[in-house]
Amino acid sequence: MKILLTGGAGYIGSHTAVELLAAGHDIVIGDNFSNSKKDVIDRIKQIAKRDFKLYEIDFADAKATDELFAKEDLDAVIHFAGYKAVGESCKMPIEYYRNNIDSTLNVLSSMRKYGVKNIVFSSSATVYGVPKQVPLKEDMPTSCTNPYGWTKYMNEQILRDTATAEPDFSVVLLRYFNPIGAHESGLIGENPNGVPNNLMPYIAKVATGELPKLNIFGNDYATKDGTGVRDYIHVVDLAKGHLKAIEYSCKNKGAEVFNLGTGVGYSVLDIVHAFEEANNVKVPYAIVDRRPGDVAECYSDASKAHKILGWTAEKNMVQMCRDSWNWQQNIKL
Ligand code: UFG
Repeated sequence: MKILLTGGAGYIGSHTAVELLAAGHDIVIGDNFSNSKKDVIDRIKQIAKRDFKLYEIDFADAKATDELFAKEDLDAVIHFAGYKAVGESCKMPIEYYRNNIDSTLNVLSSMRKYGVKNIVFSSSATVYGVPKQVPLKEDMPTSCTNPYGWTKYMNEQILRDTATAEPDFSVVLLRYFNPIGAHESGLIGENPNGVPNNLMPYIAKVATGELPKLNIFGNDYATKDGTGVRDYIHVVDLAKGHLKAIEYSCKNKGAEVFNLGTGVGYSVLDIVHAFEEANNVKVPYAIVDRRPGDVAECYSDASKAHKILGWTAEKNMVQMCRDSWNWQQNIKL
């Protein structure tokens, strides 16, 4: 198949590109590099030992999106492109809604115009809002606590409505939990601009000495050790979930939603200790106030993806920590 990856140079997009190429698919990457670096493209090619076409494009630009679809005879789209920082979205809601919703509408309009009927969408566990109960199942209530989350929520709705109105369409919504780790080659991984917001890139920079210590946001949650619990998943496992989702979308019409997580919750302190042990490094930390908007526990019931997609996360926490550290050391080179 020939698959367009919008935002394919990003953290999850680049790992998915590698898996799709390895499985024999042709890909086209479209990215405006607003939150990624151009050398990622050559690195994907180096890992996969295959070539593909790149478009430097902003999918919020309807004309440019249409032009790409006119040139490429696509079979499917995996739509990663979008702004993704929770805190930033609270400060810039208009930009977040404009960019994240417009790009989805543009991609869908072009898909309809050029007869492309399969789309896999990057959604997030953030759509579960403040969970009343864990583990989270796909049919549990959804709601959000920030504009970034609402863009995921609204895009899910737009995609569902499109699948209803266009009976030939196949829409797969993937709700990611907390992706960490990197490709084992050490050539691609997460490289946030500035001081990282997320736990694993922050820990990795503390371990290198670039940051003095980790601030743990609260140890008074109702969890086993008081720190927040999340469902961390290796980004390569997550990427493989996209391959399964594409295969599923070729055989099924309508809209379907899947959690992509491990189903296991780790606390912040669990992660600190796992990282220290796996990599034989020290991660100094201090307990500070809770971060506004954080929930105590968020982890998946991943059984639906297992049953219907035939997908299960395979990599364990030691591998996640080792691959994150390996990548972090390569960024420094
Ligand atoms: N944490 C710290 N210190 C830090 C960073 C994080 O203690 O410096 C803690 C958080 O309080 C939380 C855990 O580590 O308990 C994980 O925090 P992350 O920021 O890594 O991830 P979140 O679970 O807050 O958010 C992630 C993604 C969002 C997505 C959400 C879905 O960043 O985009 O998962 O559940 F919406």
